[in-house]
Amino acid sequence: MKHFLSIADLTAGELNDLLDLGFRLKEAWCNGGNEPVLRGKSLALVFMKPSLRTRVSFEMAMVHLGGYAFYLGPDEIKLGSRESVPDVARVLSGYVDCIMARVFAHEHIMQLAEYSSVPVINGLSDYNHPAQALADLFTIRETKGSLQGLTMAYVGDGNNVARSLLFGAMKSGMNFALAAPQGYTLTDQDLEEARGMRLSGRQTVVQTHDPVQAVQGADVIYTDVWTSMGQEAETERRLKIFPPFQVNEQLVNQAKSDVLVMHCLPAHRGEEITDAVADGPHSVLFQQAENRMHAQKAILQRLLT
Ligand code: CP
Ligand code: NVA
Repeated sequence: MKHFLSIADLTAGELNDLLDLGFRLKEAWCNGGNEPVLRGKSLALVFMKPSLRTRVSFEMAMVHLGGYAFYLGPDEIKLGSRESVPDVARVLSGYVDCIMARVFAHEHIMQLAEYSSVPVINGLSDYNHPAQALADLFTIRETKGSLQGLTMAYVGDGNNVARSLLFGAMKSGMNFALAAPQGYTLTDQDLEEARGMRLSGRQTVVQTHDPVQAVQGADVIYTDVWTSMGQEAETERRLKIFPPFQVNEQLVNQAKSDVLVMHCLPAHRGEEITDAVADGPHSVLFQQAENRMHAQKAILQRLLT
């Protein structure tokens, strides 16, 4: 593993190994602390968009493992406008041991990886959010005991988070159903690629415009904001289209009685998820957010040692 850019790049074995390592690192952290395996190592956190979880969880993961991380916000580097992406990659590589970047165009993540001589971690692009998906698989396994054979129903926008979850589900033996409005589903190419990642031909991938159909028999219901960062101009239009895809108690009642409800956060409460569900008995939202840090420690340790 040279970089961490997409769940699609990992073998099922590598994905499982990252989860195993993450569990060991969480256990150690909860029982007194982690070994300083990244002593002397540095991580640059490059953000073209806002963040709470990604920024703080990567920063604290480095601190807990004995390393050092620092934040470079949208107004500092101005990736691609003040300076070309390849030049930023070449310059940063001379100073730090690893680069994490959150960008708009996925192409910028790919260019950083191409021109950097140190590992690059994708901290979200318009295309995907693999660090989020890793933490989500971690949370499902932690709660349910295993992943194989479980069904995830993603309800809402077929966006960056949905895409990484689809790939992660395929690589861990899960079934995946996505319910999205017409025009907001994942692409046929995404589904085709995902089918190629299956561990077994029995795994199903379903796309529908009916949320009730998607959640029937589901072990996990997942949702995310209807308007992602960078799509703000579409907010009004999306607010008219997406309400039938709200994750509320009525919808949750259509799934298995022990269904987990997940959301990568930040949530727009009252839009894609109600307070009653976000704060209800099925919700693992904050366990999920905490697990970003534990799962990402595994990424950092694998890339940097
Ligand atoms: N889930 C997630 O990536 O949160 P942030 O945007 O706050 O980093
Ligand atoms: N889909 C959301 C995820 C935020 C973590 C966005 O891209 O804004």
